[in-house]
Amino acid sequence: MPEKAKNKLWGGRFSEDTHQLMERINASISVDQRLYLQDIRGSQAHAAMLAKQGIISSSDAEAIISGLDQVKAEIQAGDMVYSDSLEDIHTHVEARLAELIGEPAGRLHTGRSRNDQVATDLRLWILDFGRELDTALRNYQRTLVELAESHVSVIMPGYTHLQRAQPVLLAHHLLAYVEMAWRDRARLADCLGRTAVLPLGAAALAGTTYDLDPSAVAAELGFDAVFANSLDAVSDRDFAVELVFVISLIQVHLSRLAEELVLWSSQEFGFIAMSEAFATGSSIMPQKKNPDAAELVRGKSGRVMGDLVALLTVLKGLPLAYNKDLQEDKEPVFDACDTVLDSLRVMAPMLAGLTVNDKRMGLAVEDGFLNATELADYLAEGGLPFRVAHEVAGMAVRLAEERVCGLEDLEISDYMALCQGLDVEVGPELMEALAPLHAVSRRTSPGGTAGQNVETALREARKRLWPEA
Ligand code: ARG
Repeated sequence: MPEKAKNKLWGGRFSEDTHQLMERINASISVDQRLYLQDIRGSQAHAAMLAKQGIISSSDAEAIISGLDQVKAEIQAGDMVYSDSLEDIHTHVEARLAELIGEPAGRLHTGRSRNDQVATDLRLWILDFGRELDTALRNYQRTLVELAESHVSVIMPGYTHLQRAQPVLLAHHLLAYVEMAWRDRARLADCLGRTAVLPLGAAALAGTTYDLDPSAVAAELGFDAVFANSLDAVSDRDFAVELVFVISLIQVHLSRLAEELVLWSSQEFGFIAMSEAFATGSSIMPQKKNPDAAELVRGKSGRVMGDLVALLTVLKGLPLAYNKDLQEDKEPVFDACDTVLDSLRVMAPMLAGLTVNDKRMGLAVEDGFLNATELADYLAEGGLPFRVAHEVAGMAVRLAEERVCGLEDLEISDYMALCQGLDVEVGPELMEALAPLHAVSRRTSPGGTAGQNVETALREARKRLWPEA
């Protein structure tokens, strides 16, 4: 039943009823009830500060603070009755507080508005979530490192254009994703730094006449700094956009790995087998084992990018300061946060549970002239300009293709013939140079795939990811 507007917290100047549809579109409680812990923490810090500043009495502050503890306990016990007529979490908490402690509850909102309150709550929520996200990213990195460590000598084709290009270590390939996650974690930390700025004390938009102490509230709530401009404080949602961007990029990174897992588990590649725990069957084709978890992670990147665009679009062209449009910020934030956490959390056991088919990877390395660069390098080291060496190696590939064999199956005499008239010696050590392991172990340039590099990288990753060990 829609309530008489005059009965609402802001109903003083109203005489008509709220339209039922207005009530529905106006209510955010189904979404923002997730902010209750942050809302209560923020209110408790605000009340304590009001008392310390002599704005309300200590006994009122004490009643407010312990009353809010009780509201929190009730919410946690599932006893809070939510209603659209009370709009949002702020109003629910305050209304319940008033039922519990009476008159002092009415003093909590002194020098404060829901505008600076909601901005504070969302920032607090994101700061809490950021820690969880960072842990999930670290666990995902750990899984990648462990998978790499347990397959440290597996060679696979490295690809460009999805064509077999040069042999690389599987561990090197996996460590590329660990690097992406380091950048994701750095971006997250950076954006959390800008989130840790307290907006409370801006009041509705212009500041307040009360002698507030925002620095004390900031210290109490774990913010690093206090807003500088009250209009900006209540209308800024940059921190939310940044977070959802950070999440979008994480999700894009995950989608790239997920795509590789989908490809690798196909019969065409056969590089890995997914654990059954992260696959599904088909209702019609009995032989199927589909890599659904990886596909879902790949697909969920789309919805997270949608969240980012939704958020940016809410802010686009929005005049200062607070506008109700801003209430639309929470759904995309929560959706992106839930999605990325689920994706990271499913990715870790999915990776840990997959089986690597090193034989298939090895066969793929042997097929497709992945050692053609080695041949060119060998000839260039023998004195030919690299461009000429490249040309000769290309002719060798054509010859091997005609004979349906690999470069390593051609005879030394074939190579001598190909090099006739050129100023280069070809000896039997060429055959060693063409072995895949040789191609890998010679790539010792910084950040290259040589085993010694990869082992160092794994040791360093281990030190960074398990600092307590
Ligand atoms: N539920 C609102 C939101 O999320 C809280 C702020 C309401 N402020 C206002 N002036 N109506 O944005």
